Amino acid sequence: MRSGHVSFTEAIKNILNNAVADCFPDSGPAFECQVTPCQDKKFGDYQSNLAFLLAKRERTSPRNIAEAVAESVQAQMALPGPAGSGQARRGRISNLSPGESVGAMTAGALIETIEVAGAGFINIRLRDAALAAQLERTLADPRCGVARSAHPQRIVVDYSSPNLAKDLHVGTMRSTVIGDSIARVLEFLGHDVVRQNHFGDWGANFGVLVAMIKREYGAGLDTLQDAPLETVEELYARGSRLKKDSEEFAANAAAEVNNLQSGDPESVAVWEVLMDKTLRNCHDLYRTFNVSLDASHDCPESFYRDDLPRVVAELSDMNLLVDDDNAKCAYLDGFHNIDGDPLPVIVQKSDAGYNYSTTDLAGIRHRVGRLQAQQIIIVTDRGQELHFRMIRALAQKAGWLPDSVQLRHLGYGVILQEIKEGGRSKKVRFSTRDGGTVKIRELLAEGRRRSEKLTLERNPDIGGDELDGIAAKLTIAALKYAELKQRPVSDYTFNWDQMLASQGNTGVYILYCYVRVASLFGKSGVDKDALVRSPGSSTLSHELERELLVQLVSFPELFAGYEEELSSHDICHYLYELSTIYSRFWKDCPILTAAEDVRNTRLALSLAVANRLKLGLSLLGIEVVERM
Ligand code: ARG
Repeated sequence: MRSGHVSFTEAIKNILNNAVADCFPDSGPAFECQVTPCQDKKFGDYQSNLAFLLAKRERTSPRNIAEAVAESVQAQMALPGPAGSGQARRGRISNLSPGESVGAMTAGALIETIEVAGAGFINIRLRDAALAAQLERTLADPRCGVARSAHPQRIVVDYSSPNLAKDLHVGTMRSTVIGDSIARVLEFLGHDVVRQNHFGDWGANFGVLVAMIKREYGAGLDTLQDAPLETVEELYARGSRLKKDSEEFAANAAAEVNNLQSGDPESVAVWEVLMDKTLRNCHDLYRTFNVSLDASHDCPESFYRDDLPRVVAELSDMNLLVDDDNAKCAYLDGFHNIDGDPLPVIVQKSDAGYNYSTTDLAGIRHRVGRLQAQQIIIVTDRGQELHFRMIRALAQKAGWLPDSVQLRHLGYGVILQEIKEGGRSKKVRFSTRDGGTVKIRELLAEGRRRSEKLTLERNPDIGGDELDGIAAKLTIAALKYAELKQRPVSDYTFNWDQMLASQGNTGVYILYCYVRVASLFGKSGVDKDALVRSPGSSTLSHELERELLVQLVSFPELFAGYEEELSSHDICHYLYELSTIYSRFWKDCPILTAAEDVRNTRLALSLAVANRLKLGLSLLGIEVVERM
């Protein structure tokens, strides 16, 4: 358990575990039962398949086990206790003291019915009053009932980390959006998150750029200073071609990498102008895209310049390096290529230059030693998985990464697009019309155009700054949600129409739901604060109110496994579910025209929905709008 907070799942697990211990007292090692929400709510709120797991051990049918356990729980329910037993509390949304936590409730206060279904499933339905009490506890809570971790860690999250020779492109967008959400959630859970932007400002690309600038600008660096960013990109594109065509230029470019690494003043001066330009561009983009990275998180490859020779020297002192054609390499057990030949980690190239691996090793030393990280999470494309496995193994072997520090590489898939070819559609890597990489900046511009149009179609009276603001937020919601709703390793297909659809599992749909609730409070004249102080005290009068309530109170359970799974996609799914239930509720349950007590209950439920949507979205890096 992460914290002092007890969720419904955990409370039910405790009750079931007690029942199992009661029914099968001397049956070997302690049994931990599993509890999950019921897919089909007509069976109940939660279910357990414990009977199937125990059947083998107990040599009897699952059905028999389930019945025995259910009976034992019913006996627990009949026991007197502070919160529940006896009197008809069903359906009161108030009356329970709001201080009553799930952990303090007896089985009788918590459970309405426990039933066995099919071959031995155990279905549990909770008491309305228990659910309502939980909602009341969290109505005024900005954390919506989510507790902080009982074991906060210092966690380095290395994400975004673009290569700065070019403008940021969609590949980097994945790292940026996924990493930013992880950093936000871990911070919300009480961890001490240290964001690290390990951008590439140092390698071969910069050799090309510096060589090109020297060639084309000579001493005229001022001109470069004032030139637009496209100039840099254009220089880089031409330089890359030249590198292929001209051996002389290729040698120049390689020499420039070493010049930078050894601190040659002239090359460094050129590079600084370059950096100033591209970095400003990068931070601008983070602001526009609502990414929680700023200059204080910059820790680029060049930061490790002085450490690189030390990394190599220490590895060499530990006898971990061999010379391979003049390159310094470490060979580790268990790493082979497809032909079965051992794979090296090259830490110094034959031209004496250092590389990506050397820098990552220096990074680990810094993060463990200086930053005192207890965990390191690095978000890059999944193609780098092997690289990080080897780096981890080498760092462990060198004693730079103790067992107590976990180094995790989170690899993501590629973004695809669907194209038509000869009447058939197929999926290929997402690119511009001429096959180039798609820039984030261009996506944002396109998204804004589309969002503006959509907003005006619905709401022609919106204009000016308000329209700009809404279009910007819709764009961010569309892009980030599409990115986060599946597991990072999966590829996904980029499609504006789908991403901006007002129906279906999209960020825009969830924003609509939020706007709906916001409009409700605008119209109702209800004072939200008053509602929080004395929420509804009416009977739940509709099955959809109950469905909403169950979904609302399960919010904290979303975070129970987050540190393990880094599962921002679960947050998306929760928000989507909540929004679909709310829109059914909205259709079937009149709010403002209902009798006062019913109205207050429905308003309290609505407020709780809005709070969870807003909080959940903020953890994805998405801001809400009040109308659209
Ligand atoms: N710049 C790299 C890239 O674009 C990502 C760096 C990730 N972080 C790291 N420590 N290697 O692929």
